[in-house]
Amino acid sequence: MLFFHTSKIVEFLYLWGMLKKVLVTGGAGYIGSHTVVELFNAGYEPVLLDDFRNSNESVIDGLSNILGDRPELLKHDVCNTDYLRDYIRKHEVCGIIHFAAYKAVGESVENPLRYYQNNVEGLVSILKMVSENPEIPFVFSSSCTVYGEPQGQKEVSEKTPKTIPTSPYGFTKWLGEKIIDDLFFSQKKLRLMSLRYFNPIGAHSSTQIGELPIGKPNNLLPFITQTAAGLHEKLTIFGDSYPTIDGTCVRDYIHVVDLAEAHVKALDYLINAKDGCHEIVNIGTGNGSSVLQVVNTFEKVNDIKLNYEFGPNRPGDVIEIYANVDYAKKLLGWSAKKTINDAVKDAWNWEKSIRSIK
Ligand code: UD1
Repeated sequence: MLFFHTSKIVEFLYLWGMLKKVLVTGGAGYIGSHTVVELFNAGYEPVLLDDFRNSNESVIDGLSNILGDRPELLKHDVCNTDYLRDYIRKHEVCGIIHFAAYKAVGESVENPLRYYQNNVEGLVSILKMVSENPEIPFVFSSSCTVYGEPQGQKEVSEKTPKTIPTSPYGFTKWLGEKIIDDLFFSQKKLRLMSLRYFNPIGAHSSTQIGELPIGKPNNLLPFITQTAAGLHEKLTIFGDSYPTIDGTCVRDYIHVVDLAEAHVKALDYLINAKDGCHEIVNIGTGNGSSVLQVVNTFEKVNDIKLNYEFGPNRPGDVIEIYANVDYAKKLLGWSAKKTINDAVKDAWNWEKSIRSIK
């Protein structure tokens, strides 16, 4: 019967609880691991595909503590198309969420081929599976980096024109969306969604999983928490004379658990979609916060004094951007619930737990 795989049969099996495996590439990473938890909470069976090149195997222990059981783990490179093909042939997979990618902007400038190979080849490899199994819905991790520096209005909607990002990392996301567009053009029955993330921060409130940067962090929140934990002498705030509320850059910081929930909504939507689509959706809070506001909030919420200084602008930084989230609400019935206070509290509790700080 299953040889005649149609989206109707998949939907039927899903509704009867017989078909719930969701392949999560990069499932041991920061956003991936939080999404694994939310998928599980929603009744799906997340299957992690991760070769731990950019994540730590201890994440699986943290996930097991939250889920009460070890999740299924496929320790393979997403570029291993033959392995993926064999796995999907033997298992009933009702969705694929593709996180596995590198994300350090500076590193991508220094080593572009590493980024093009992993991010583009990885995407093409997993999309081959979608193309060969058109009943499987697919969710892609895109980024607000595709907007570049917004001209005029700082609140960007999905209709705001994209610009070609300056970093190879950013370009892999821009290109990723284009590759998915082109695939959809050739196979109109595919159900696809690109989620444009703004700035994910925070950690699971259990302190079992959180952000685990390898080496010195590039992103703001892990640098803040590591400085508060004594790993760095001080935080450097890159730039204090931008045309913003207080001279520092403005971003839309979203709690990673809210972001994870958005993936569940995205998958639910695609599973129930009657027609093919490539939907593009902003996933943010709709609010902008400056770097200084984040630092002040971290200090206030956690009752900690953070050592920081102002330094030169970071090359390539966007000055100010935040999401218009109307479409996420309309299409997915999703909006962020947690506040930036929740996020900085959870991030610090996570840092304390991994450093054994009381
Ligand atoms: C960048 C990408 C984004 C990507 C993310 C993943 C761009 C424009 N944005 O986000 O698409 O998803 O990386 O890593 O390419 N800051 C400091 N001191 C620090 C660290 C950061 O002041 O030590 C400031 C930055 O200058 C920036 C803000 O904090 O204003 C946020 O920076 P970061 O966390 O690195 O994220 P983005 O650069 O916004």
